[in-house]
Parts: sequence; structure tokens; C-alpha cells
Amino acid sequence: MEGRRLRRIVALQAVFGIGIAIIAGCEREDPAPGREVVAGDRTSDPGSLREIMAGLGREMDEMARGFWIGDLASVEAAARSIAAHPRVAMQERARIQDALGSAFAGFVRADRSVHDAALRVAASAASGDMVATLGEWNELQSECVNCHQTFRDRLRNGPVNSR
Ligand code: HEC
Repeated sequence: MEGRRLRRIVALQAVFGIGIAIIAGCEREDPAPGREVVAGDRTSDPGSLREIMAGLGREMDEMARGFWIGDLASVEAAARSIAAHPRVAMQERARIQDALGSAFAGFVRADRSVHDAALRVAASAASGDMVATLGEWNELQSECVNCHQTFRDRLRNGPVNSR
């Protein structure tokens, strides 16, 4: 008798235990290897600056590939997608504004410069001129790096992603 009751309690505990683990699993995101989760980390938030940046990085990789295989159509597509990158979420915009204060206007200008440079890459690529497109791509990269040099340290959310 005692043994059966005990087994039932153990079985019930197992069921509840699993239930709790599933709920907890939904709420918690495992950090990427080599990264700690820090307070305010927004890496997995699609409207975060960091997610958008990770996307820009992938488009630049695509563009490089387009150059190396001589495929200007994919260079153009990647450039257009950079020019039309998603906007940061409202909350993230407020965070950036808070962190930068009066320098925020410069941040917006830097974003605009990347947008314009990406459109110039797309236009060159559409014209089929590989060398001119490469020159424009170089300009675009400078615009990315300019903003990083000026603002990244003030806005960084934890260490650089390995993705
Ligand atoms: C208006 C400023 C600005 C411009 C323009 C800009 N970036 Fe960034 N970028 C940042 C900031 C700030 C961070 C740091 C974000 C963080 O760590 O939360 C960053 C981070 C990154 C990262 C690292 C993301 C990660 O996973 O940690 C990559 C990749 C990146 N940018 C690529 C680019 C590329 C490519 C361009 C140009 C096409 C570009 N960025 C243009 C401000 C900018």
C-alpha cells in the first residue's frame, strides 16, 4: 500500500516537474556560446540595433560573394536591402537617444549616409560596371566603420556577437 502511494507521488512530481521545466524553458533564452547574458541584452529582439546590424553584416557578406563570383545582380540586391534596412523599435530608439543626447543627430546622419551610399552601390551595380561598383562599395564600408568608430562604444550591448 505504502509503496503504491509513494510511486504515485513520485509520478505526479515528475509530471509537474516537466511542466515547470517547459514554462521556464520558454522564458529563458540560452546565451550564444562565449557570450554572457547581461541586463538589457537585446540580441534576440528583432527591433534591436544589434539585430539590425547583424543583418547588415550578413548583407555585406553576400555583397562580397557577389563580387568574387562576378554576380552584380546579387550585389545590387544586397545593397538595396541595406538601404531599406528595418527601423529600430521605439524603445530601442529611446535607449539610443538617451545614451547619445545631443550626439543623436550625428547618429541619424551616419545612418542616412549609409543609406545613400548603399543606393549608389545599387545604381552602379545595375549599370553593370564592376570597377565603379567596387569603388562605391568601398565608400559604403567606410560609412559603416565611421559610425562604429564614433558611436559603437557608447551603445554597445555586451561583447560583439560571434554570429
Ligand atoms: C548609425 C550608426 C551605424 C551605422 C551607419 C552602422 N552601424 Fe553597425 N553598429 C553600430 C553600433 C552602435 C553597433 C553596436 C551595437 C550593439 O552592440 O548593441 C554596431 C554593430 C555592428 C555589428 C556587430 C553586431 C553584433 O552582432 O554584435 C555589425 C556586424 C555591424 N554593426 C555591421 C554594420 C554594417 C555592415 C554597416 C554598414 C552597411 C553598419 N554596421 C553601419 C552603429 C552603426
